[in-house]
Amino acid sequence: MSTPSLDQVNAALATVNDPEIKRPITDLGMVESVDVGPDGRVAVTVLLTVSGCPMRDTITREVTAALMGVPGVLSVDVNLGVMSDEQRAGLQDVLRGGRPQRDIPFSQPDSLTKVLAVASGKGGVGKSSLTVNLALAMAKQGRKVGIVDADIYGHSVPAMLGIADARPTQVEDMIMPVPTPSGVSVISIGMLKPRRDQVVAWRGPMLDRALVQMLADVYWGDLDVLLLDLPPGTGDVAISLGQHLPNAEVVVVTTPQEAAAEVAERAGTMASMMHQRVVGVVENMSFLPCPHCGPEHRLEIFGSGGGARVAATLSERFGYDVAVLGEVPLDMSLREGGDSGKPIVESDPTSPAALELVRIATALDGRGRALAGRQLGLTPTSKF
Ligand SMILES: Nc1ncnc2c1ncn2[C@@H]1O[C@H](COP(=O)(O)OP(=O)(O)O)[C@@H](O)[C@H]1O
Ligand SMILES: [Mg+2]
Ligand SMILES: [Zn+2]
Repeated sequence: MSTPSLDQVNAALATVNDPEIKRPITDLGMVESVDVGPDGRVAVTVLLTVSGCPMRDTITREVTAALMGVPGVLSVDVNLGVMSDEQRAGLQDVLRGGRPQRDIPFSQPDSLTKVLAVASGKGGVGKSSLTVNLALAMAKQGRKVGIVDADIYGHSVPAMLGIADARPTQVEDMIMPVPTPSGVSVISIGMLKPRRDQVVAWRGPMLDRALVQMLADVYWGDLDVLLLDLPPGTGDVAISLGQHLPNAEVVVVTTPQEAAAEVAERAGTMASMMHQRVVGVVENMSFLPCPHCGPEHRLEIFGSGGGARVAATLSERFGYDVAVLGEVPLDMSLREGGDSGKPIVESDPTSPAALELVRIATALDGRGRALAGRQLGLTPTSKF
């Protein structure tokens, strides 16, 4: 039996990513020591970013699996330690990549991340359901996706993704987003409260600080797409985000109802005032497929035409085409998926609602992040 080579052992360790930071543990200074014995026994000491790191088991399992794949390795012994303050500060420098603190990476001119803000006029129209399902659909299509749950009234995204009780890990003053089993990273404004049961009235400067924190102090890594679940309406969050993420593209969610459509138009107009581009409208709870005749017969529980109306009004108002991106039917398993922490695109992927959500995700993703679609601080007032 040959002794495993140290090079092979190191190469295997480099395939293990920190589950939160999503970069090789070898790049992050997390591997403190490697000991390769002639008898095929390997002992590794891995330094966690913080003690009581919620990912201890994952790291142990993945390091063991990676090393057992190296020829000659017969047993693996993983010891877990904790980084010193100095080591953590070093890690923070690595993660920042030299960028000064407080910069929002997504609003830099060289950012390749598509930022999609999901907005609505009122609550309960399915904004959060849409956000989590779009995120999962895009992740399934191989995209690296993050979600900022900025809904100060609801913050329901973590529960919908089955991570209701999760708290982010903090490395010095950098926050690690919470990973979900599907690979989407999440930060919710609810996670920034000092205590879970605390009621915080997020307003004014404090709200602005929380939003900047979620965008600048959270280590997102290189995301393809960042989705933001906004609170309903046209309040402080919309204004703050407009200031900090003028390049965000906005998806407006409405139900077919007249009243919902009217307030949705206001939310869309607000986004445009903040120089954000409205990329389309999603009509949710569009219809109930008839239980007798099938989906060809649409039972219009909440009326009809809301999505089309919002799209037409906004197109006219802005002078560019705002399309209806899709019509998501009412579906019991969509609600159940949200309640049980397993969104419908995963729990019931062949249902008509899931198929429509995936179609919308593909359409949004396929648009690319063309410079032509961005507003460089100019307000579009008319067609040319
Ligand atoms: N198409 C749909 N069919 C059935 N239930 C839905 C649908 N869309 C949303 N729901 C349910 O409606 C409720 C409100 O949706 P939610 O996404 O929380 O709305 P919002 O974020 O706009 O307040 C949730 O219980 C959700 O599961
Ligand atoms: Mg919500
Ligand atoms: Zn029928």
